[in-house]
Amino acid sequence: MPRLTARERREGYQREYAFQQRHGKPFFPHVVFHDTIVSLIVVALIMGLSVLWYVQFGAIPTDPMAERTGGLLGPAYEAKADPGVLGYHPQPDWYFFFLFELLRIFKTPQLLIVGTIIIPTIWMVLLIGWPFIDRNPDRRLSRRPIALAIGVMVPIVLLTLTFYGSKVPAEGGAASTEPGAAAFAAGACSTCHVLANAGTAGNVGPVLDEAKPDYATALALITNGQGAMPSFKATYTEDEISCLAGYVATWSAAVGTTPGPGAATAKDYPASCEKAGGLFAGTVSSASGP
Ligand code: HEC
Repeated sequence: MPRLTARERREGYQREYAFQQRHGKPFFPHVVFHDTIVSLIVVALIMGLSVLWYVQFGAIPTDPMAERTGGLLGPAYEAKADPGVLGYHPQPDWYFFFLFELLRIFKTPQLLIVGTIIIPTIWMVLLIGWPFIDRNPDRRLSRRPIALAIGVMVPIVLLTLTFYGSKVPAEGGAASTEPGAAAFAAGACSTCHVLANAGTAGNVGPVLDEAKPDYATALALITNGQGAMPSFKATYTEDEISCLAGYVATWSAAVGTTPGPGAATAKDYPASCEKAGGLFAGTVSSASGP
């Protein structure tokens, strides 16, 4: 594009302005009319969806707090929150999966602030400032390789994060009944570790299905702690720790009911769980109480 002087630009603008005054359409009523039509369509759409959602659920049941699911557009009411449920894993709605996954990328507690606050803040500031950063008047895509690359990359990154965010290990309730599983899922372990067999999705410590620790490693870690992993010497008895270590070694990276590669190293498992009893032995189910 040839460089224009300020005066040439001004003259060009004034020519265009005079032309539009003669031949263009006035703001009122044209634009106002268009906006009114589009707004009405949007409002009608929202009303239609609400009516559609409402008519699916029929009469209100005798217990007004009862769960009413199955609607095409989502449940009328979900079941009341049950504080007795062990190993429940809150999951965001799908349109927040990308943020959820971003959070899961940062494993160490000190770095969590990067995923939760720093990256989203930088992103918002960039979005707000973009008109001031990108002053290039060109509109043809072939002349704007960097803008094009950024424009293509952002949705790809968001979609990828959303995809992996949706793959986060299953919700609670998937926990197995192997000795130690209930104790692992109910205790602090679940808040920091992913272990598919126990149905936990904590994101502070390593994914145990990937780490596949052997019994000795697990026993040492649980007893003494290491880095961000606390010591559980004062929390659990020796049998309980041995049971947890045996459970982790045996069922990390397990496929269904086939134990993982560390199983052979856990000699005391599940005998130690029987000795520890209760939740560790798996005799106390999470739902039925003591
Ligand atoms: C506060 C978060 C936290 C809690 C709670 C926690 N862990 Fe950990 N765990 C970690 C971290 C972080 C590491 C990595 C330690 C390192 O390598 O420096 C780890 C490592 C481990 C490892 C070793 C994995 C490997 O690399 O082979 C095992 C096994 C383990 N934890 C089991 C447990 C069990 C069982 C519990 C519950 C009794 C538990 N953890 C509770 C954070 C936690």
